[in-house]
Amino acid sequence: MTDNDNVLFGNGDEPLSNRSPNPHLNDIIAHDRRRLVAGGAAAGVLAFLGVLPAVAGAAEPLARGPGSAPLKRSRVPFAAVPVSRADEVIVPQGYRATAFIPWGTPITGRYPAYLEDASNSAQDQAEQIGMHHDGMHFFPIDAQRGGRRSDHGLLVLNHEYIDAPLLHPNGPTVSGNRRVSAEEVRKEINAHGVSVVEIRREVRGDWAVMPSSLNRRITGATTMEMAGPVRGHALLRTRYSPDGTRTRGTLNNCSHGVTPWGTYLTCEENWAGYFASRDPEPPRELARYGVGSAGRYGWETLPGDEFRRFDATRSAQEPTADYRNEPNTFGWIVEIDPFDPASTPVKRTALGRFAHEGVVFAPTRAGRPVVCYSGDDSQNEYIYKFVSRDTFHPRRSDGRLLDAGTLYVARFNADGSGEWLALDIADPAFQQACAAAGVAFADQGEVLINTRLAADVIGATKMDRPEWGAVHPDTGEVYFTLTNNAARTTADEPNPRAPNPYGHIIRWREASADHSGTRFTWDLYLLAGPQDDSRDPRGRPLDEHNICASPDGLWFDDEGRLWIQTDMSGSQLSAGPFGNNQMLVSDPNSGETRRFLTGPRVAEVTGITATPDFRTLFVNIQHPGEGSTPTEFSSHWPDGAGRRPRSATVVVTREDGRRLM
Ligand code: FEO
Ligand code: CA
Ligand code: CA
Repeated sequence: MTDNDNVLFGNGDEPLSNRSPNPHLNDIIAHDRRRLVAGGAAAGVLAFLGVLPAVAGAAEPLARGPGSAPLKRSRVPFAAVPVSRADEVIVPQGYRATAFIPWGTPITGRYPAYLEDASNSAQDQAEQIGMHHDGMHFFPIDAQRGGRRSDHGLLVLNHEYIDAPLLHPNGPTVSGNRRVSAEEVRKEINAHGVSVVEIRREVRGDWAVMPSSLNRRITGATTMEMAGPVRGHALLRTRYSPDGTRTRGTLNNCSHGVTPWGTYLTCEENWAGYFASRDPEPPRELARYGVGSAGRYGWETLPGDEFRRFDATRSAQEPTADYRNEPNTFGWIVEIDPFDPASTPVKRTALGRFAHEGVVFAPTRAGRPVVCYSGDDSQNEYIYKFVSRDTFHPRRSDGRLLDAGTLYVARFNADGSGEWLALDIADPAFQQACAAAGVAFADQGEVLINTRLAADVIGATKMDRPEWGAVHPDTGEVYFTLTNNAARTTADEPNPRAPNPYGHIIRWREASADHSGTRFTWDLYLLAGPQDDSRDPRGRPLDEHNICASPDGLWFDDEGRLWIQTDMSGSQLSAGPFGNNQMLVSDPNSGETRRFLTGPRVAEVTGITATPDFRTLFVNIQHPGEGSTPTEFSSHWPDGAGRRPRSATVVVTREDGRRLM
């Protein structure tokens, strides 16, 4: 997203709303370690990396010489593509990248054709692929029977937000700070959400959309069920759902997750910006999340229940007569069964309420709890994990497993150890922390609605905007991107630069390889940035083959290669040494890290999934040409010269049709 700070149609990007007195870690670390960091951010990290066997023991480099041409035995077997400012997707020699299902592609209903002048109606948009592709997963069409078909499946993807100037023929119609067209706002709401689309690989290797009863659009208006400890809570009661069990829509769906039982999870990130409260002192469940006095798109300014619900200002005696609690029905992880188009999406409240970037599961074991991790992508927010109360049983377990369990938040100690702190109202340590902080919660539902405050109270570690997580398929180590943090004023070991414009990747290993436990050890995997302020996994500066900044998307392929996607914005994107946003591949065994793909202009590279045979990789390109006006486009990808830019999926294959690596 760009650094646009307009009130209306601003980007709503990851605001700072953690004003808790929670110490930064450096307040509690030993003086000599503090000096180490103060001696130079990169030097501090290097020294820190040096004491960590996992990194210190990395194998000798396998890449050599100009062009970083890899040796044959490399697990990253391609020559890095250079930094690029071209308005196209570039992949290494021997690979092919083809745009697929761009915004506006018809997938259901009347299959309305995309109109180049953006004059499709709101109803058309509800039957077409949404805007701003993000998290994504390929489900083999026979997945429910345990199959692994690679030529036919359901592609499920998020549509995080919109560029209103590109969504409408002449941009959005406004009068002052008020919206005037219900049709326009309905189209905006319908451009959000999730797409489920059945796709098939044709004989020549191209992928095609199937007309299918499984194809589905879930939007910002789709009916959703609330589940878990918060279902029916007094703070969920609204005019629409007086018993606090339902809500409408999912918004700002960033990354995603896939459950062990084969459903899709979509994660609500910067939802707070869609709501407004003009109450003089908004309640903590709004204030701590940054709900302001005006919504980013002004939806709340239109009359009618479908729009007024975005206005959380108290306007009635009872909460069942206004929408003061509507924002409390957002900030959750939503479960969708892609194989049942009639199913109602379910918001799983036990996983906590914050700016969820995504969610990633630890490997499952029969008879053990399921464990998943989720980051809160705002400046100085936290990393969480959920451990189910009940145990996992293949072919029997379902989403109800996510309705009861313990939500933990991470504390990263300066010595490389870490703890998971329970946000559980029945836990004596949590009770003591609440008493000491003078914070009271009436019940566990209130703890979960106020997840950020609960994490403040227990003393979690403030992180540099936690984005995606990924779990190494062999070692079980958990990797998380920390994309950047302009608001960091003091460095600490897990976030060693203040401010941190470039971001880094942290990883941890659960004690005794038990993902449900409460202790772990951590280290830093990579410090992004230019050559003079970065470190690769081997402790060396990044070079022309892998300089990058603002790591965001993160994914492990089945063979343990780490795929890293970037989301730079503003001047870093337009004037930095990094070129357009990109995707790299990194081998944790050798430390080799090489740029695999560069995106078009003013686009984020985000979202990645592959077919089981690893012959097709799907990658999302989000918001090409962000900042365009209705008449002047700063990108023309993917349709070409003069054309309106569109978010799209990219299908990446090898020219010889073999496995990608
Ligand atoms: Fe939607 Fe945190 O990126
Ligand atoms: Ca992201
Ligand atoms: Ca991002």
